[in-house]
Amino acid sequence: MEKASVLQLDKMTLGVCYYPEHWKEELWEQDLARMLQSGLRVIRIAEFAWNFFEPEEGVFTFEFFDRFMQVVEKTPMKVIFCTPTATPPAWASDRYPEILNARKDGVLYRHGLRRHYNYNSEKYRQLTRDIVSALARHYGQHPSIIGWQIDNELNCEVNEFYSESDSVCFRTFLKEKYGSIERLNEAWGTAFWNQSYNDFEQVHVPRTTLNEEGNPHQKLDYLRFISESTCRYTGLQAKILRAHIPAGVFITTNGLFGNVDNHRQAAENLDFMMYDSYPSFAFSPGSDPKNDPNLADRKWSQNLSETRSVSPVFGVMEQQSGAGGWTSWLGSPSPKPGQMTLWALQSVAHGADYVSFFRWRTCTFGTEIYWHGILDYDNRDNRRLREAAQIAGKLEKLAPVTGARYKAAFAVIREYDNLFDAQYDAWHRLVHETSEAGWFQAAQLTHTPMDYLYITEHTKTEELLRYPLLVYPHATLLSERTAGLLESYVKAGGRLITGCRTGYKDENGHCIMQPKPGLLRELCGAEVEDFTLIGPPVGRSFADWDGEQVEATAFNDILSPLPGAEVLARYCQDYYAGQPALIHNRCGRGEVFSFGGAFSRETAMVFLRRLGIAEPFAGLVCLPPECELAVREKEGERYLFLLNYQSRPIEVLLRREMEELLSGGYKEGAQKLPPYGVWVLRAGQD
Ligand code: GAL
Repeated sequence: MEKASVLQLDKMTLGVCYYPEHWKEELWEQDLARMLQSGLRVIRIAEFAWNFFEPEEGVFTFEFFDRFMQVVEKTPMKVIFCTPTATPPAWASDRYPEILNARKDGVLYRHGLRRHYNYNSEKYRQLTRDIVSALARHYGQHPSIIGWQIDNELNCEVNEFYSESDSVCFRTFLKEKYGSIERLNEAWGTAFWNQSYNDFEQVHVPRTTLNEEGNPHQKLDYLRFISESTCRYTGLQAKILRAHIPAGVFITTNGLFGNVDNHRQAAENLDFMMYDSYPSFAFSPGSDPKNDPNLADRKWSQNLSETRSVSPVFGVMEQQSGAGGWTSWLGSPSPKPGQMTLWALQSVAHGADYVSFFRWRTCTFGTEIYWHGILDYDNRDNRRLREAAQIAGKLEKLAPVTGARYKAAFAVIREYDNLFDAQYDAWHRLVHETSEAGWFQAAQLTHTPMDYLYITEHTKTEELLRYPLLVYPHATLLSERTAGLLESYVKAGGRLITGCRTGYKDENGHCIMQPKPGLLRELCGAEVEDFTLIGPPVGRSFADWDGEQVEATAFNDILSPLPGAEVLARYCQDYYAGQPALIHNRCGRGEVFSFGGAFSRETAMVFLRRLGIAEPFAGLVCLPPECELAVREKEGERYLFLLNYQSRPIEVLLRREMEELLSGGYKEGAQKLPPYGVWVLRAGQD
């Protein structure tokens, strides 16, 4: 049986981040009472409070948080308790500098902010074991605690590690991977520029080099190593917690950051992922999405889609509730009335069953005096508290949606190796970023709900077959396993779109000495004859697809069809005018479209339209581009979320009468969705 809700509570739930250590104890009871009155039923606590539990090495005390938990226990408030390892105590950094992370040039990050430790220091791992064990033993069975958060935002603020401990562990990682230094030399192509190593002892994490260029194959392994280190560190904590907490109490962590395989992280260590949503409220409201190239108001929809690929139903541990800003940077304005609701429901629309605001009251000291919570320093009731209470009321009405899955019409494929490769390979990065934005924006503007599908070592063909259309824009690094999965997907009836630069690198990041797209040549029914970058910055060329001009952005592969394949579009200009830009190939019960460019949003929209994928809900709703459509489905019942990011009402057309859950009324025909408004329409069975 699938869990009904991520929190195993009975319904969608609203919560808030709270810091008892920031306030006078007299405020605790009143704070909890006000939260509960406003419909905030869960608090997340203690993620930065190490010193309150271990003020000196090996000296543990629980008095402060025990007093707080005694206050909590008298109320129905539930608690997500955190391990405080994101902020090592001064005594630890002072006594054991080896626990500190370092800049690439070796300078250590010192005490005074947060996240300045490294995952690989044996000392830090021991200190972590000690504090986590102490907390788990003391609070593991507490009746108010429903779940645990490990650390806080792993890999946020810094996701590169250059300490001595990292080099030591990197060597172990490489020894296990390659077995001999000769094999490492081969994999890293060290014959180039005399980079060969005689011994693993000479190998380090990347260090300062001229131009910061370094060896690309080393970088690829380094990013894989950071990912592994992050997962191992989480695993260390999860194992201790599991041994002490009852079944049914969950383990999670928050945020989705770089250089970590979040899928592995969640599968090995967590019950589900939580996301932190900071929409910033800074985009210009009322902007025309057709002219706004970034759809900044929807950026979080993209991040939430990524979160959903890790955990289909998830929670948002931190949802921005006030103006942003640190003392050192301006941040973002206050949410306008309605915007807290809009973005909280954006999270729900994408699969969140739990939303927790950051934070109850703005801190009156420290770096984040401008990072506002629901309440201001003066602690009076305010409009944001009133809006939070209204959101709680709305979540009550969304009870039937609890546990419902997002329903996408197609998916864009990602693999961690290619995300890592795109980080340091400028050619790859250019096409990757172009197409990531292109497909997401096309999906948004055509109201075609989209997922990300990550291919990992565990992915099976059936998971691919959930989608009638898959897009793998740039499978630059291509393994035999992935090529095999794509082939079995297509043969079983799937439709696949690929773009330029497919299949030209092996798993070490070496370029293969075969016609591109390498392992996908037969499946695509195409070969790359010639190719060219068409920037910088980002160049555009065009191809003619049955009289329609289609943009082939950033890079052009000039294609040629293999026997049986068909040319659908040809380039319009340059020395390759008239040469194939798009090839169609049937294979088994499916088909492949190989495109020679990267995908701008206009191009992605052409594909969605021509393949009949765009606007799958056009029979129910007709929406302007300003409106996001997200769909969740449970037991055959579909819930359509309509979100208006504009400061003005927008016209929508409902083609049949549908119940709107938030108002409880029925709506049909031409309607005006209010400024920053959200409707959730019950649309029945498919
Ligand atoms: C998050 C972090 C919070 C707080 C917030 C505002 O990334 O988890 O602790 O710092 O940003 O800056």
